[in-house]
Amino acid sequence: MTDQQYDFGLVGLGVMGRNFILNVTDHDFSAYGLDNSQDMVDRLKEEGAGKKVDGTTEVTEFVARLSSPRKIMLLVPAGKVVDIVIADLVPHLDKGDIIIDGGNSFFTDTNRRFSELSEKGIHFFGSGVSGGAKGARFGPSIMPGGDKAAYAHIKPIFEAVSAKVNGEPCVAHLGNGSAGNYVKMVHNGIEYGLMQLIAESYDLMKRGMGMDNAAMHQAFDSWNKGRLQSFLVDITADILTKKDDLTDGDLVDAILDKGKQKGTGKWTSQNAMDLGIPIPTVDVAVSMREISSLKAQRVEAEAIYPHASTSHSELTVEELEQALFFSYIVSYAQGMQQLAAASEEYGYELDMETIARIWRGGCIIRASLLEDMRKAYDRNPKLQNLLLDAEIAEMVKPLVASAAKVVSFAVRGGIPAAAMSAGLNYFNAFRTGRLPMNLVQAQRDHFGSHSYERLDREGVFRTEW
Ligand code: 6PG
Repeated sequence: MTDQQYDFGLVGLGVMGRNFILNVTDHDFSAYGLDNSQDMVDRLKEEGAGKKVDGTTEVTEFVARLSSPRKIMLLVPAGKVVDIVIADLVPHLDKGDIIIDGGNSFFTDTNRRFSELSEKGIHFFGSGVSGGAKGARFGPSIMPGGDKAAYAHIKPIFEAVSAKVNGEPCVAHLGNGSAGNYVKMVHNGIEYGLMQLIAESYDLMKRGMGMDNAAMHQAFDSWNKGRLQSFLVDITADILTKKDDLTDGDLVDAILDKGKQKGTGKWTSQNAMDLGIPIPTVDVAVSMREISSLKAQRVEAEAIYPHASTSHSELTVEELEQALFFSYIVSYAQGMQQLAAASEEYGYELDMETIARIWRGGCIIRASLLEDMRKAYDRNPKLQNLLLDAEIAEMVKPLVASAAKVVSFAVRGGIPAAAMSAGLNYFNAFRTGRLPMNLVQAQRDHFGSHSYERLDREGVFRTEW
């Protein structure tokens, strides 16, 4: 073959795909793109002018242009499209070639694709990519899972293009099979929780404390300079300064209050239920998006049940910062516990410290707290819950009173702070050595002879009540 061979192939030249491919070529690798739209291919050629990049709409040409073993990443919508693209590619591939699905695919789909392709001798990676369009262009967090030996072929490219924190790349081989998609799913669940918590803080400042957008911008901006430093707090501060192009007001006030979702938060909750792991902050975040979509009913109900007024002076911005930081810690604790349980159940062999490390940069849930978490898992790789680490506990203890004050303020004012409250209740249950489940067990035995265990002796007991 006389044509130039390219190091990396990418299917799906939308914004994410084009940005990712340009990022690859920024790092001395050559890349070739495939898209069924000539327009997208032309855009890639335009944006990549002067770089070692080219593209086509023809699958045969695409495959012929890639050096062996071929490394082909898909950045196409999750679901059927992934199967269609794989089916198009496979007849042209050789044993040992590598396909990487960079989308938010459901992890059981990844398991199926993994075994179908390994029967054909093709390596398959389910690899979450986080950081949006900007991340894809300048450094995402990448979460690959699949065959460890084959990962060696993609490692140099992924390490080069990923975000860096203290010189360390925000990518690592996370585990077997669908480990990468699973970790990305839980990342998104945590993302839902943090977004809801920030939205509740905004609502409390706005309706509860009477702050305007400029004052709220200042609060988020100053929080972002401290221990709450995180991408989501940062963009919230930014959002609150944006003027509307169509009216005289601020853009945030013109946006319809119906939360949309593509499903990754729901999957996280559903699978946590299957594993028997409590992640109430994520559950509630999903429910709140659902409640938000009942806009017409909410407006009707507001007229029937008007709000009680609250005293603005009751709460300070500092207390709210403490409550939000508390809620952040509790959210990550839930997500990490789910990951540990999934690792056991599905044999992923996840390393918690590595996950915290690659989430420190590039991804949507990046936060300075991730470094504290990384250290906690470094101290104890088998840590069962982040809240049990001594140093994390020292961070949490001074925050509890403010979290309780903020939640009770919200409850009295009729302002929903469901995620904050769910996190606080999770914490309160988790720190209670004796819960009232003895009574639930008694009830189960009373009406259904379901039996119970005792505190003072071994065995299973039944009672004629
Ligand atoms: C990321 C994001 C990304 C996507 C969300 C949005 O890590 O870059 O999580 O994957 O923007 O999945 O999800 P919803 O549309 O469900 O809010």
